[in-house]
Order: sequence, then C-alpha cells, then structure tokens
Amino acid sequence: MSRFGIRKRLKKMLDGGPQEIVRHAVVYNLPDGTSQVVRAEEGYNLLMASQDLPSPISTGRRAGGPCPDGGCGLCRVEVVDGTGLSTKTHREQSTIDAHVAGEPHEGRDREPGPPANDLTRLSCYCRINGPGGVVRVLELFDYSSIAGDPDGT
Ligand code: FES
Repeated sequence: MSRFGIRKRLKKMLDGGPQEIVRHAVVYNLPDGTSQVVRAEEGYNLLMASQDLPSPISTGRRAGGPCPDGGCGLCRVEVVDGTGLSTKTHREQSTIDAHVAGEPHEGRDREPGPPANDLTRLSCYCRINGPGGVVRVLELFDYSSIAGDPDGT
C-alpha cells in the first residue's frame, strides 16, 4: 500500500465510487498502565494513528513526528498482537538493527539503542490493515518539552 493509501483512494475517486473510509480498532497499552482503543483509518501507520492518544508515540525528536528518512529507529513499540497489522519489512528490521548498533544517522554519530526483541516494531512502518492489533507504547511524546517559558523570560 502506498503512503496513506493514496493510490487506493485515487483509484476509488477515479472510479467514481463513494469515498468510504474504513477504520479499524487498535489497542494501545500506554506507559502509565492504561489502555486506549483508537479507531484508525485503514492504511495509517501506528504512529499516525497515535495522534488520537493523549499524546502521540514519542519518536525521540524534539518536535515529535516521524524522521524524514525512516532511519532513526526511535519510534519503537512492542506488538503484543499483530492481528490486522502489516508484517515487518527488511528495511524496518535494518533500521532497528542500525539503531541498536548505534550506527550514524542523518550524518551524526549516536549512542547504541536499547536491545530489541521479537515484539519490537517501528510505529512509522507498522500499518493498520485490519482490526485486532494490540501494541505496547514504550514512551509518549512529552508536550511540555516544547512548551515555551510561561513567564516569557
Ligand atoms: S520515526 Fe524514525 S524510524 Fe520511525
């Protein structure tokens, strides 16, 4: 599927069919021990769908959001139940391995990342193709990290 399912949507539009949006339930187990169900549009990835959480999945970037090249490996989650989710691609696994090994990214050196396991996925790669996914979020984006100085000093 193309990014955001654009190819599929364009084909539907050109075919003159109705613009039916299909959504699937995904359970996010949050770091505070609570769970939240997100009804995400088919084809969205876990990171995009996490915008419906109190804060989205952390990608380790100062302003949040995905890295431009899909190479940072910082948007990790653990997939508890992969039903309805895309399978891991070779590129996704390579990105995880490069992060764990501490290989340079965006022209900068970096520390080795934490070890990965069989459940480790990158939320910006993992697409929602059907219902039934359950994921454990390791870290949410911290909105206070981008808040300005409340005193304006
Ligand atoms: S945000 Fe960089 S790999 Fe997902």
